[in-house]
Amino acid sequence: MSDRWYQKAVVYCLDIDTYADSNGDGIGDIRGLIGRLDYLARLGVTCLWLNPIHPTPGRDDGYDVEDFYNVDPRLGTLGDFAELLHQAGNLGIKVIIDLVVNHTSDQHPWFQSARSSPDSPYRDWYVWADSAPPDRHQGMVFPGEQGETWSFDRTAKLWYYHRFYKFQPDLNIKNPEVREEIKKICAFWLQLGVAGFRMDAVPFIIEETEPGNPNSPKDMDYLTDLRQFVQWRKGDAVLLAEANVEPDQLVTFFGDGAGSNNRIHMLFDFMLNGQLVLALARQNPEPVIQALRETPKLPPGGQWATFLRNHDEIDLSRLTADQRDQVFAEFGPDENMQLYGRGIRRRLAPMLGGDRRRLELAYSLQFTLRGTPVLRYGEEIGMGDDLSLEGRDAIRTPMQWSDLPNGGFTSGDPIRPVVTDDQFGFHAVNVTRQRHDPTSLLSWFERMIRTLREAPEVGAGTCTHVDVPAPEGVLVHRADDHTGTMLFLHNLCTKDAVVDLSSVYAEAEFPNDVLADREYPDLGKFAEVPIAGYGYRWIRLRRSS
Ligand code: GLC
Ligand code: CA
Repeated sequence: MSDRWYQKAVVYCLDIDTYADSNGDGIGDIRGLIGRLDYLARLGVTCLWLNPIHPTPGRDDGYDVEDFYNVDPRLGTLGDFAELLHQAGNLGIKVIIDLVVNHTSDQHPWFQSARSSPDSPYRDWYVWADSAPPDRHQGMVFPGEQGETWSFDRTAKLWYYHRFYKFQPDLNIKNPEVREEIKKICAFWLQLGVAGFRMDAVPFIIEETEPGNPNSPKDMDYLTDLRQFVQWRKGDAVLLAEANVEPDQLVTFFGDGAGSNNRIHMLFDFMLNGQLVLALARQNPEPVIQALRETPKLPPGGQWATFLRNHDEIDLSRLTADQRDQVFAEFGPDENMQLYGRGIRRRLAPMLGGDRRRLELAYSLQFTLRGTPVLRYGEEIGMGDDLSLEGRDAIRTPMQWSDLPNGGFTSGDPIRPVVTDDQFGFHAVNVTRQRHDPTSLLSWFERMIRTLREAPEVGAGTCTHVDVPAPEGVLVHRADDHTGTMLFLHNLCTKDAVVDLSSVYAEAEFPNDVLADREYPDLGKFAEVPIAGYGYRWIRLRRSS
């Protein structure tokens, strides 16, 4: 058995302030989350990824941090947080937190000090330029919401660099004090008991910004250094990075090329995310097959984190313009559903028209492709979005627990409105109702995740496309490890199909369906394996002898 827990984890991402409010002030909090840990345990998730929990002016939903060594008072106290770690641990759930150290809030005392005087000890913690850098209108991450990457600070009378919003000045990674401080932040939270970090914006953290150079060098070795530090402080801690970079750069985030995984353990697979959404839009698995084929080989221990939805827009920027248009036409036809010219700000259920069969299909596919699945809160009940909210807030609405007022999220005035429309609003879509219904999407997720735990090949083994003559919409893939082999069929289109799998029959030992969209007839000799439109089959081909 692999002893790397993250390879067999099911990660659940949530924002505490929209999850569960315990004291009626309208803001979700740590105690509220503690009260829902039993729900998460039953669902079968093994690791929580908490969106930023630190004190913040809240201009980027917490990704603008004011103090790295505390918990935002609106969410609770450090004491509550320690209690959360303990209670989650009792249920076998690990907790990782967002590590947002590319930048701070402009309200952070470091920046306030840095701008105030050239003699400030923090002056060199940020990135400054005397005159307007010629590339200041390049490299914006949020086009439309952000006009430049360098802004003039009137107090310092200097230009400062901010890869993201203007109120998020970048820390200067070239400064050894900053490098040490980042380690200290990691050490602090590891000491409290977190299992690791979801590292925000990694390519930008290590960017050694030079004014006027839009392709500034990156210090990859800092990642080696940080990994070593983190591992020494807590042997099984993991780093899960957001690094949405060109495919040929990806492996350098996992290791220095000498063959070992000595940098980041896990990277979100943005490539696969785009291809997966494209495949769903086209009802044809070809993009996924290609993505599997083109996946770079990772050093042992390196792992992908798969996802369909996260807290940001679905980023389609790595698709061609035609492919992007196709996805927009299918899943985000109104301009109001799109964001930054590259993405979709919707949840999956509304994107798929609330079609239960397609939702199961999509999540079955994500969870069976290689890597560690990451699930965004609310997706397990098929929550909708609120397009009347600004930007990414559309998909950051409160969790829908019941049909009590405000979906049971709060007894007060919720920080963001709870979704109320007929199809996806809390009266129709909520935990309590689905909890009592064995045929609900929630019950399906519980069953699916439980089944995944019986199939460790998926997370820890290899994943390959099985090249059999399959009808157009059907993907056949397999997961292999020393524990055995799983075979998966997914039919991305509406048409029922029959697949000839006789070429793999020789390997089968007591094969059987362990999860499927319906009861299928006995597999026989695999010559005619039926798969319904939008259907899926998880077949245990053999266990290791
Ligand atoms: C990452 C986060 C995003 C945030 C940005 C700036 O991309 O996922 O939500 O706005 O970093 O910190
Ligand atoms: Ca509260």
